[in-house]
Amino acid sequence: MLDKRDHNRKGDWQELRERLHRAIPGGAHTYSRGDDQFPALAPPLLERGKGAYVWDSHDRKYLDYGMALRAVTIGYADDRVNAAAIRQIENGVNLTRASRIELEAAELICDTVRTAEMVKFGKNGSNVTTAAVKIARAHTGRRFVCIPRQHPFFSFDDWFIGTTTIKRGVDERQSSSTLVFDYNDIGSLEALFAEHRGEIAAVMMEPATHIVPCGGCEHVADWPGTPCGNCPNHQGNFLHQVRKLTERAGTLLIFDEMITGFRWHLQGAQHFFGVEPDLSTFGKAMANGFSLAAVCGRREIMEVGAIDKPGMERTFLLSTTHGSEMPALGAFVEATRITAEEDVPGHLWTYGKKLRETMEGMAGEHGLSDHFIMEGPAIALNYVTRGTDGQPCMAMRTLFAQEMLKRGVMMPWITFSQAHGDTELDATAEALDGALAVYARALVDGPAEYLDGDAIKPVFRTHN
Ligand SMILES: Cc1ncc(COP(=O)(O)O)c(C=O)c1O
Repeated sequence: MLDKRDHNRKGDWQELRERLHRAIPGGAHTYSRGDDQFPALAPPLLERGKGAYVWDSHDRKYLDYGMALRAVTIGYADDRVNAAAIRQIENGVNLTRASRIELEAAELICDTVRTAEMVKFGKNGSNVTTAAVKIARAHTGRRFVCIPRQHPFFSFDDWFIGTTTIKRGVDERQSSSTLVFDYNDIGSLEALFAEHRGEIAAVMMEPATHIVPCGGCEHVADWPGTPCGNCPNHQGNFLHQVRKLTERAGTLLIFDEMITGFRWHLQGAQHFFGVEPDLSTFGKAMANGFSLAAVCGRREIMEVGAIDKPGMERTFLLSTTHGSEMPALGAFVEATRITAEEDVPGHLWTYGKKLRETMEGMAGEHGLSDHFIMEGPAIALNYVTRGTDGQPCMAMRTLFAQEMLKRGVMMPWITFSQAHGDTELDATAEALDGALAVYARALVDGPAEYLDGDAIKPVFRTHN
């Protein structure tokens, strides 16, 4: 069990924090990794990860539920994936023409994801979602793109960031063609289509998050028990409604499967829900943490980027030096083999179900069923922390994360991997027991009594 004195004994964490902020605006390369997203006593940096665990600069080990912002599905530093990447390092890292592994990886994604007939690789999710928007505009000759308000992130580019509260530095001309609707409310999307008839190039959305497209249908909660495609209610669900609307309007449907891809199902959430998008984007879990992202989809659409169509007007599609970097592509091929052969998604669903039962059970034991709430299907769990007034409370969320950290569990949000098993579930239960006991006391005394620093803040806010 950690306490603040323990952390400060060497007096080095504050110094590390200052060095990080002196060298890097924001102190990290993703805002979700920033100090304002973690309790004050979280380690400012991590030294390494293996399996389900990470280690801080005092060599203290934490069970991790952050999993590199959901990029790691098999486990940190998996020997098999690493060996595949190392083979490609030895083959030269990146060559002067397309490489063999590039062809193999492209064919693999086309063989794996049914709607992928062609693919273009990139290094970051933001690049491929932006590319998908461009492909849709090039293919349809239309301007507008619709995204759901409930989905927190598609790209660091202005077409998306301009729709958030953080407008500084954004060219608002870029985001003026991005329209916002409400997920699970087909009427809100129909209204945009009516207002901009014949002008909407694409609808982009995550197929599902912790919010699923099936309304009150509970069948999705614990797959592999009852896959959505077998559910009697699934044909009418929101994704099918959007598919029909977009088809009628000649608009492309883009599924951003950055988080759901290779996690909900080997073939993506699109397969899970039985809905076929025109384009999809993948990243994160593709290569077990290696930097790789992809936009893929129907041939006739993807071909806007082709150079073997004589006389066709050209579209400057993703063209990057490092999109073909071989270690990440080698890692992807091996990670996909493991995901398929060892049914990693099946493991994740099963672990998620047990974890939800554990967390809900422990909340109940501490009398917190109304204040510490689990939501989402087993594969996409979210914990909601409510204060005494019943409203979501960031101070209580921070306190929970702090108390879990003190007990060796890093749970800024909930993501798990193939490396999370029964040992990890037991360790989580033990940490929960202690953390929720403090949580219950803080509901009575107020969280300030127990918090070691500031509360976590939302990433999307106008000022620091
Ligand atoms: C749904 C979704 N799309 C796109 C992105 C952007 O991916 P990247 O951070 O690799 O640029 C993210 C990242 O969090 C995401 O969650």
